[in-house]
Amino acid sequence: MSIAVIFGANGGIGQEFVKQALKRHAVVFACSRPHSSEAASKIPTIKALENGLVKVELNPLDDHHLKKFSEHVNNQYGHVDLIVNAIGILHHSEEIQPEKRIEDFDLTSFINVMQTNAATSALIAKHFIKLLKQSNTQTAIFASISARVGSISDNRLGGWYSYRASKAALNQVIKTLSIEVARRNKNTAVIALHPGTTDTNLSKPFQQNVKPGKLFSTEYSVRKMFQIIDNLFLEDNGKFFAWDGSTIEW
Ligand SMILES: NC(=O)c1ccc[n+]([C@@H]2O[C@H](COP(=O)([O-])OP(=O)(O)OC[C@H]3O[C@@H](n4cnc5c(N)ncnc54)[C@H](OP(=O)(O)O)[C@@H]3O)[C@@H](O)[C@H]2O)c1
Repeated sequence: MSIAVIFGANGGIGQEFVKQALKRHAVVFACSRPHSSEAASKIPTIKALENGLVKVELNPLDDHHLKKFSEHVNNQYGHVDLIVNAIGILHHSEEIQPEKRIEDFDLTSFINVMQTNAATSALIAKHFIKLLKQSNTQTAIFASISARVGSISDNRLGGWYSYRASKAALNQVIKTLSIEVARRNKNTAVIALHPGTTDTNLSKPFQQNVKPGKLFSTEYSVRKMFQIIDNLFLEDNGKFFAWDGSTIEW
């Protein structure tokens, strides 16, 4: 039975990943943060809905939540075939805004952005690497949604210190994990994906700068990313792909 786990399932891209994963996998765990304090006290909450959809509420920065959830998946299915981490932050109310210049840099915001954008993938991998190894598919996949602006060699515009640094850190986590899984999991490919500029809350404040035809719907961007996932080989382990299938320099 084919099992997918999507983190950031309430976000624009994450929601669409859940939708399109349900057409490919028998069971899809859609993981998001708890929305009420009542739910928070029972974390992780795991609720099976119809057609293979399972809603999970947990804090992806909490080791204990991830441990309990991975144990649940292990007890129920014994393996995972696909993990997508679509969690990410660029701005949040007044507190977190991408820096235009170095004077805008704020340590608390930086730490928050680093945790959300880079640490979640490391924590998820920590608890799920063994379940990917137990997959029967030829290529089990761990995919993190990164961003082209995280590429150091591609940085021509500057700005956005925290977001760029966090995605560069995420890319290093992905590259390092890909080297470890090549040794430990002979069946797993670990990749980073750039979705292209996509119409979600994250990109909303910056959409006026996007050239016509370059702002993707979530349906299109996730369909393109699934084309990459569906055609992935083990040799692709450790690559950073853009939505159109081209590779991006780290
Ligand atoms: N949209 C674009 O143009 C674009 C371009 C390049 C890369 N990306 C990347 O694509 C991914 C998905 O972004 P999106 O466009 O779908 O944005 P979005 O709609 O704002 O979704 C962001 C997701 O991240 C989760 N999240 C934010 N802060 C969190 C925290 N502290 N702890 C746990 N979860 C947190 C949100 O969870 P809640 O729903 O619980 O708030 C939500 O599920 C991100 O990694 C983003 O950097 C997007």
